[in-house]
Amino acid sequence: MYYYGVVVFSVLFGVSWSDKLLTFPPGFKFGASTSAYQIEGGWNASDKGESIFDRLYHERPDASMDHSNGEIACDSYHQWRRDIDMIAEMGLHVYRFSISWPRLLPTGFNNYISEAGKNYYNNLIDGLLARNIEPLITIFHFDLPQSIQDLGGWANPLIADWFTDYARVVYTLFGDRVKMWITLNEPMAICDGGYGDFLAPKIVDPDVGLYLCSKNVVLAHAKAWRVYDEEFKPKYHGKVSMTNLFFWYEPVSDEDKETTDLMLEYCEGRFSHPIYSKEGGWPKKLQKLITEQGYEQGYWRPRMPEFTEEEIKFIRGTYDFYALNHYTTNLVKKAKPGEKVGAWPFDGQPIIGANFQKGNGWKTAAPSWFYIYPEGLRHQLNWIRENYGDITIFITENGYAGGSTGLRDQERIDSMRDNLEQTWLAIYEDGIDIRGYITWSLMDNFEWIGGYSVKYGLYEVDFNSTERTRTPRESALYYERVVKTGSVFVHSDEDKHIEL
Ligand code: BGC
Repeated sequence: MYYYGVVVFSVLFGVSWSDKLLTFPPGFKFGASTSAYQIEGGWNASDKGESIFDRLYHERPDASMDHSNGEIACDSYHQWRRDIDMIAEMGLHVYRFSISWPRLLPTGFNNYISEAGKNYYNNLIDGLLARNIEPLITIFHFDLPQSIQDLGGWANPLIADWFTDYARVVYTLFGDRVKMWITLNEPMAICDGGYGDFLAPKIVDPDVGLYLCSKNVVLAHAKAWRVYDEEFKPKYHGKVSMTNLFFWYEPVSDEDKETTDLMLEYCEGRFSHPIYSKEGGWPKKLQKLITEQGYEQGYWRPRMPEFTEEEIKFIRGTYDFYALNHYTTNLVKKAKPGEKVGAWPFDGQPIIGANFQKGNGWKTAAPSWFYIYPEGLRHQLNWIRENYGDITIFITENGYAGGSTGLRDQERIDSMRDNLEQTWLAIYEDGIDIRGYITWSLMDNFEWIGGYSVKYGLYEVDFNSTERTRTPRESALYYERVVKTGSVFVHSDEDKHIEL
């Protein structure tokens, strides 16, 4: 049977017997990921509250490239059974999805829990478990209730408690069946996006708002982690973490190394050092840079609010694993004094004084900033271990952005294979404890700024049909084979022998 599978795989995907078979460890989990606003639709179904994305895209349709929004999206609010079928068709072990805070708590607070919201997520979780698929829930994936935004959103320190109250409702309702949790998706996207110019609430305030947000997201995560750890873990034995979006950076030359290290602290260390490092708190060099720049600009206090000693202790160690979202790598060139720095996040980072460029021979995906350099993933996994020790890692997002419709997506297959190869090398050659690979995304969906014109789906979605018909791309068939065999084929000149 296995042999048959390998032959079919070879014929379908054009691999030859000189290719090398890389098999993942037993128990390694393969999955796919989505998020509520990007797929659910049903933006005002039943008693759902308004989210900051409902508000943004209604008031400013031009906030997405094709003037679209997530009002209907993939209509997963109604089509969730089909979503489960797709996950089962590929034989995935895990489905990572998020809960819409304003769907479950229409006022944003715990005074009122929506029956319709509760039923929707209960049905989804039960439907997944009935097909032997493990639900991995992201408690917050960007779609803040507008009511909380009106009270200051992520810039208001009280949000750490409000988020924790919401997380407590989620653990209480679903914790008996859900064992893997992500508190917050990508704090960098929440803060640099929300207080930059690309994600809701689009309050452009890179001097102050961005850093208030940075501190509050870390505290919110830590509080929600501790609530689970103290009140729920003893009976449910689940695991909780936060995902980090991690653009990987490498220096153009030796003289760009220090700037590159700072870039990594900015993107990664800002949200990892307080949680995973031994000493806790902000990464020192980054904190110094941001504080000094602020003083030069006339601010009287550190722009990135300091943590108290008590907060440092409270936050440190609030993890059960490391959740990594990886997409692309940039080369970093230190800006010369007076040189113009490109716009963050795609061309450069003005605070750090870094300009970005593509490596020689690297291809790009559909968006021009999306450089393809799969080795970056392995380097990044090593960076996590070097900085924070031997932590269990899950890759919670990794995917390929295509631009056109159609079911033939060899580039996505190549990208998945190459990223899986780097993951395999990190496990077997570098000895890193990686337990799972969750791809972005199960299907085409509302890609924030990119609207529906940027496509990450293993399944194509027909956004013109009422049912939002989903059709597997070649990459879905490829992934199905990967999951069934627990292996990928990669080309190798040295290795002519395949063990079957
Ligand atoms: C986000 C997703 C997004 C994906 C592709 C990730 O950083 O978590 O919401 O769709 O990137 O851009």
